[in-house]
Amino acid sequence: MARLILAIETSCDDTCAAVLDGPRILSNLISSQAAAHAHFGGVVPEVASRHHLELTTPVVQAALDEAGVGLDDIEAVAVTVGPGLIGALLVGVSTAKAIAAARRLPLIPVDHLQGHVAANFLEPEPLEPPFLCLLASGGHTLLAGVRDHAGHEILGQTLDDAAGEAFDKSARLLGLGYPGGPALEKLAAEGDPKAFEMPVAMARDPGLDFSFSGLKTSLVYRARDLGRDETERRRADLAASYQRAIVDQLIAKLRRAADAGDWPAIALGGGVAANAELRDRTRALCHELGLRLKLVPISLCTDNAAMIASAARFTEPIPYPDYLGFDAFATGSVRAA
Ligand code: KG4
Ligand code: ZN
Repeated sequence: MARLILAIETSCDDTCAAVLDGPRILSNLISSQAAAHAHFGGVVPEVASRHHLELTTPVVQAALDEAGVGLDDIEAVAVTVGPGLIGALLVGVSTAKAIAAARRLPLIPVDHLQGHVAANFLEPEPLEPPFLCLLASGGHTLLAGVRDHAGHEILGQTLDDAAGEAFDKSARLLGLGYPGGPALEKLAAEGDPKAFEMPVAMARDPGLDFSFSGLKTSLVYRARDLGRDETERRRADLAASYQRAIVDQLIAKLRRAADAGDWPAIALGGGVAANAELRDRTRALCHELGLRLKLVPISLCTDNAAMIASAARFTEPIPYPDYLGFDAFATGSVRAA
């Protein structure tokens, strides 16, 4: 297992690079492009790719500098190969291949979702499998059963929108900026979560899948029925009720998965795991069920390269030069690539 790993993550709109020494983070840099996309109300793939092209090399250099190491010290290069925006991924993959090939280093291809899971393996206080992990981000919402360090089993996932997408789209409807999650959470803090009844989708569904598109539609109808002025006046109540419905669904499925398995611990991952209501409710659930709770810092919940390096520690490296033909993938998994 390589000790000093350089990792690159460019699957969406953050340009990230990190250096790990075993499970210890030496540097973890994130250059957010949020401001570049805010103007459009969401991530524009072509804009993301162009920003990655400009930013990847300086961010990698800054990560090496902050770690106090040079490329000659690095033993393996890890990179997110999917799922994500294909143009954005290709920038990271090409950069990683070039750095690795120039030094004849092995390349470690990492699945982005396994990266979110592996954030829990980092120091301090790494979480040992088995555990149940709820991943909720802008692109994915799933329950992962983690029985070892190398992978996870998908126990349930969203049938339509991701939870983060539900936050982003409703935030847009309520006239908030992008990304919508933090803005909606802030507004919700001033509102009454019981003011409006929102459908908690899949509540009676016996499985572990999620659905958020009906909830989003119900907010659209609510706003239409209330009219523009009343919607504006009740914005905080709408945000609080909507956030409550998203978190209710996430917690209901987490509880069902915990009841169905023998998991000793629960972990959260993905950008939505930054949400205080979700964190508090998960804490209460773990307390009630007598399970250990692992909450990584918010900086490790949202996209970052330290989690990619962490997953890489438990992934088979590809020796030089076998990876030169290796491709990124937009959907699916590493095994299918
Ligand atoms: O994991 P992430 O940084 O990127 C993806 O892989 O998608 O997640 C970004 C998502 C966005 O949809 C954002 O609105 C949401 O996470 N998010 C939040 C919060 N912070 C970020 N959602 C709810 N509450 C938050 N505090
Ligand atoms: Zn992510």
